[in-house]
Amino acid sequence: MKKKLAFLAVVAMLNACSSSKMLKNGPVTYRPAYHYTPQKNWVNDPNGMVYLDGEYHLFYQYNPMGDKWGHMSWGHAVSKDLKTWQELPLAIPETMNADSSTTMVFSGSAVIDSMNTSGFFEKGFKKGMVAIYTSHKDKKGKGLAQHQSLAYSSDKGRTWKFYDKNPVLDIGLKDFRDPNVFAYEGKWRMIVVKSLEYTAQIYESADLKNWKLLSEFGKIGDYAKIWECPSLFKVPVENSDTFKWVSMISSAHEDTDYVGMQYFVGDFDGEKFTPDAQTGILRIDNGKDFYAAVPFNNLPAKDKNPIIMAWQNNWAYAGDIPSEGRRGMFSMPRKLSLVNENGKYRLVQKPVYSDKIQTETLTLKASELSEAKILEMPNNSYRLNLTIDLANSKGISIDLLKNGGEKSVLNYDVVSQKLSFDRTKSGKVNFNKLFPSVESMKVTPQNGILKLDVFVDNSIVEIFANDGRNVLTDLVFPTTKGGNIIISSLK
Ligand code: FRU
Repeated sequence: MKKKLAFLAVVAMLNACSSSKMLKNGPVTYRPAYHYTPQKNWVNDPNGMVYLDGEYHLFYQYNPMGDKWGHMSWGHAVSKDLKTWQELPLAIPETMNADSSTTMVFSGSAVIDSMNTSGFFEKGFKKGMVAIYTSHKDKKGKGLAQHQSLAYSSDKGRTWKFYDKNPVLDIGLKDFRDPNVFAYEGKWRMIVVKSLEYTAQIYESADLKNWKLLSEFGKIGDYAKIWECPSLFKVPVENSDTFKWVSMISSAHEDTDYVGMQYFVGDFDGEKFTPDAQTGILRIDNGKDFYAAVPFNNLPAKDKNPIIMAWQNNWAYAGDIPSEGRRGMFSMPRKLSLVNENGKYRLVQKPVYSDKIQTETLTLKASELSEAKILEMPNNSYRLNLTIDLANSKGISIDLLKNGGEKSVLNYDVVSQKLSFDRTKSGKVNFNKLFPSVESMKVTPQNGILKLDVFVDNSIVEIFANDGRNVLTDLVFPTTKGGNIIISSLK
């Protein structure tokens, strides 16, 4: 009994220490330090990502009225280096129609119409920006309509005009959205989805206004739930001078209650996308919080690889995550390439990040970790770069944001070759019953070495294993600042 009391006293003391630590380190924030999110309000999908004149533009689904989904409009931010972002005023607003119905500006893309094919710009002007988005009309109790519309800007996306003959593409379908337009051999191509028919359509246009259907593909891969935010682009194959076409689709998740992203690798002849034969479903990210990613258009020659960004949230609980007057954020940009693994192509994703992020770089032998290694972190925003020799070990366990009983746990098990991330004890988890979850992905060590690049940024954890071959992204909401990192070998 005495022993038990002494034990309880020690536990109480440790808890007291961790709560005084909490005070010492100040209040926790969920606003990321090196991921982009606007000052306030709701965001979802990235839209119209395009490069022009030294600026990367990120437009996005934005509610100017509050921190819940609604009044969807395009917000706007720019960056010179993809690492720090500047928020700009609202770009394309929701509009009120004459019959007092509203038209929201749903997801879409932007292109630079340097040849003025649209005729929207002054003769010879090469910097016209055209946004192609889904106009979502709420007919006031008489149903919904989705069609594709245009807006254009002559001042690098700062101010916009709607095309007066919108919409430019209407097939009379309620769920028809997220046009992604790209230049192809002097003309334009659009990939757009019939969301509930799990079908992508490819159109051609010479002027962005008149669109002709070329082909369709669908009901392949994962079509359990929905298809949204399609894209189609060329990706270079590493160690070769070839490329393949990749189509990314936001759809269902392996875990059926959630949404996620899949991709197809194949060929595109200008009319038709033909996916390679594939066994199983190719997932972009194995976590729960990487959705609606699309690539930048018009990248400068120095960016040889496509760059994507995603919304870091999941429709399963998106509206319930803790709000700081602001809800939702964007992933770090990721550069894409393909590797050829025994005749099968797989995406590799490399994050673009600032070298100002506090970084802990460690090279370890898992078998020599007889005692846990503790790294005290002053705040919850950092990068942990690990190279782990797994020889003679069962694996490794890494507690992130560890404070008292609270922790986000990364485990690698040598036998199953599974890397898992457990956020069930990560802090605030009870705001939605689908939030507390454990994710896992297969990671094959290379020559007995496991490489992990882990980006923790106040409320997000992005894990790149084996140089971006396997990726897992999850939100977490720790209740304290300055949690430790504890690295131990799996027993
Ligand atoms: C994807 C999505 C899109 C749609 C937008 C509306 O997250 O549902 O299909 O255009 O969000 O905000």
